[in-house]
Amino acid sequence: MTAGFASCSRAEHTVVTHVSSLTRLKVVTLLASFLTVVLILLFHCVQPSLLQQTAWCCHADMVAYTRSLSTATDDTHNGKASRIRYKHTQRHLPGCLIIGVRKGGTRALLEFLNMHPMIQAHRKEMHYFDNMDNYSNGLDWYRKRMPYSFSDQITVEKTPAYFTSELVPERVCRMNCSIKLVVVLRNPVERAISDYTQIHSNKLVRGRPHDLFEDLVIDSSTGEVRQTYNAIRRSLYHRHMEHWLRWFPLERFHFVDGDNLIRDPVAELRRVETFLHIEHKLTHSDFRFNETKGFYCMLEDGRERCLAHSKGRAHPKVDMPVLHKLYTFFQPHNDKLFQMIKQTFNWSLAENN
Ligand SMILES: *[C@@H]1O[C@H](CO)[C@@H](O)[C@H](O)[C@H]1NC(C)=O
Ligand SMILES: *[C@@H]1O[C@H](CO)[C@@H](O)[C@H](O)[C@H]1NC(C)=O
Ligand SMILES: *[C@@H]1O[C@H](CO)[C@@H](O)[C@H](O)[C@H]1NC(C)=O
Ligand SMILES: *[C@@H]1O[C@H](CO)[C@@H](O)[C@H](O)[C@H]1NC(C)=O
Repeated sequence: MTAGFASCSRAEHTVVTHVSSLTRLKVVTLLASFLTVVLILLFHCVQPSLLQQTAWCCHADMVAYTRSLSTATDDTHNGKASRIRYKHTQRHLPGCLIIGVRKGGTRALLEFLNMHPMIQAHRKEMHYFDNMDNYSNGLDWYRKRMPYSFSDQITVEKTPAYFTSELVPERVCRMNCSIKLVVVLRNPVERAISDYTQIHSNKLVRGRPHDLFEDLVIDSSTGEVRQTYNAIRRSLYHRHMEHWLRWFPLERFHFVDGDNLIRDPVAELRRVETFLHIEHKLTHSDFRFNETKGFYCMLEDGRERCLAHSKGRAHPKVDMPVLHKLYTFFQPHNDKLFQMIKQTFNWSLAENN
């Protein structure tokens, strides 16, 4: 009984040791394969992040990401893209400012340019240099509001109010006198009408009483154009340009034909790319003409993105005599500008008007 019991327990013991040695072997094998799997996984995970440290890979990623984000958030305000941080990116001060003009097509230019991989646009108008409260916060406050970018990318900010604000040129120069300045110019009469339309749009849409364009631009007592009316004042480009040229040489500026930017965006963008010393990347495949809207929309990953409806607002029909008066009034002012910037634009009255 005892012996049988003993032998039985011994047998049990050998079985146990046999099993445990088997298990150990299995565990080792399992561990080894587990480690191999872990290593393979690690290699796969680490590899892309290693790759990403080379600027190119990271770059492509970020561009793709910001693009898809900007598509998702549609137009105007997005803070989202600027909140994403990629390795080796920082918030940089703008290397280029789109300073004007109001109603000239600055939004379109900024959105178009933002499709370029070397551009990081700040899509909200900052009003940093023209607003005392904003400006008093200092340069670091301004920089911290810019999107993340690689050091070889150009940060672009646009605030059309910069162009007409007298204090702005000096302030911009205090930040960076070598900064590149882009001005989107447009037929000054059309711009003034567009300016008026924007200011009165709510009333115009609802058919509420409002001042007529004709009554605002013409002084009824003298019959002359009212130069102090804001829509006219802002169109006197040479007056504003004069302030800017006190602080920046002409070669810092690039003038975009805002009327042509709508008709043929690629041609105007090529000139901007040249001015900014970046590769010609924006082509006809980035745009599609929308017949309904009557202007070009951006193509991003095959999806069409158009600027907001307000950008193509219909203008009121202006009295022909007033229109003629305005064109005559602006002609010498335009000539002054053309001399000043050594460039001309065709701002004559269209025949179909
Ligand atoms: C000033 O702007 C130029 C042109 O974009 C740029 O190359 C330069 O690095 C900027 N300087 C500073 C100090 O940011
Ligand atoms: C700068 O000032 C303007 C006008 O007061 C304001 O609308 C804008 O939001 C300010 N910008 C920032 C970034 O706070
Ligand atoms: C043009 O824009 C309109 C309005 O946004 C849109 O409904 C239409 O699908 C667009 N046309 C084309 C050809 O994409
Ligand atoms: C300027 O524009 C007007 C109206 O759009 C046109 O009739 C005229 O031929 C143009 N002139 C030149 C020199 O391009």
